[in-house]
Amino acid sequence: MKGIILAGGAGSRLYPASLPISKILLPVYDKPMAYYPITTLMLAGIRDILIISNPNDLGNFQRVLGDGSNLGVKFSYAVQTETRGIADSFLIAENFIQNSPVALILGDNIFHGFGFSSMLKAVGKKTEGATVFGYQVNDPQRFGVVEFDNSNKAVSIEEKPMNPKSNYAVTGLYFYDSNVVQYAKTLKPSARGELEITDLNNIYLKNGALDVEILGRGFAWLDTGTFESLLQASNFVQSMEINTGMKIACIEEVAYRMGYISVRELEELGKKYKNNGYGAYIQKIVDQAKVKV
Ligand code: G1P
Repeated sequence: MKGIILAGGAGSRLYPASLPISKILLPVYDKPMAYYPITTLMLAGIRDILIISNPNDLGNFQRVLGDGSNLGVKFSYAVQTETRGIADSFLIAENFIQNSPVALILGDNIFHGFGFSSMLKAVGKKTEGATVFGYQVNDPQRFGVVEFDNSNKAVSIEEKPMNPKSNYAVTGLYFYDSNVVQYAKTLKPSARGELEITDLNNIYLKNGALDVEILGRGFAWLDTGTFESLLQASNFVQSMEINTGMKIACIEEVAYRMGYISVRELEELGKKYKNNGYGAYIQKIVDQAKVKV
C-alpha cells in the first residue's frame, strides 16, 4: 500500500499566520502539523509516501522531511498548481500509485484514539474496495456526511448537505484499491469547481465496495482550520502528552516501534533535539529499549 499526503492549497483561512509557510508546516504544540498525518500513514504500515504541496512550499517540505531514509520510509514530492479538489490527488499521483492500493490523508487531519493503530493496521492490509472513517460532529453541514440504514449500513454520502441525514462526517483519511485512478478520471468538477472526494466514495458505495469504519466516542479527530481550532489542537496535544508522558505523532518513535529503524538509529535522530523535551523523550525510549535488551 502506498500513501499520499495532500498538503496543497494556500491555507488562506489562516492568513496572516500561514503567510510565511504552508499551514501544514505550522506547529501543533511541539511538532509540525505534517508529522500527524505522516505517522497516521506509517501506523497503517505505509512506507512509500507522496507529499503533494503547492509550488511555493515544496522546498520547505523537502527541507523539513527530506527523502525519509533516516526514518526507514520514502518520501517523494509532487506539486499541485491550483486547488482542483481532493480527488485531483489521484490524477497528480498516477505515476506514483502505479497499480497499488493507496491511502490518502489530508495534511491538516489529526487523529488520536485508543485502538486506532490496530484499526489502521487492518485497513492497511486490504487490497479490495475502499474504506473511509465516520466521526460524529456537531456541524455536519461542513463535511461529507454518511447516511445509514436501519442495519447501520452506509447508503449514501452527501457533500456539505443543507439537511444532513446523520451527524457522521467523513474524515480526511481514505483507503482505496488500485481502481482509484481509473475512477478519479471519470469525475467531473462539482459546482465549486472541484473533483470531489465524496463523488469518488460514492462510486465505491454504488459498487458495494465501501466500508465505513466508525471512530467512536472518546476518539479525537481535530480540526486545524481556524485560529481557534489550531490553538485548541495544540492545547489538546499538550494536555495528552503531559498527562500520559507519551507523545502523539513523534515520527522517530513511530519509525522505531514499526521496526523501520533500530534503537541506535533512533538515538542518533534524538541527538538533533538534545536541548529540549522532544529529544529527552526520544532518549527515554532509547534507554527503555536498552534496559530490555
Ligand atoms: C473535505 C471533503 C469532505 C470531508 C472533509 C474532511 O472538505 O470534501 O467530504 O468531510 O474534507 O475534512 P473540504 O476541506 O473540501 O471542505
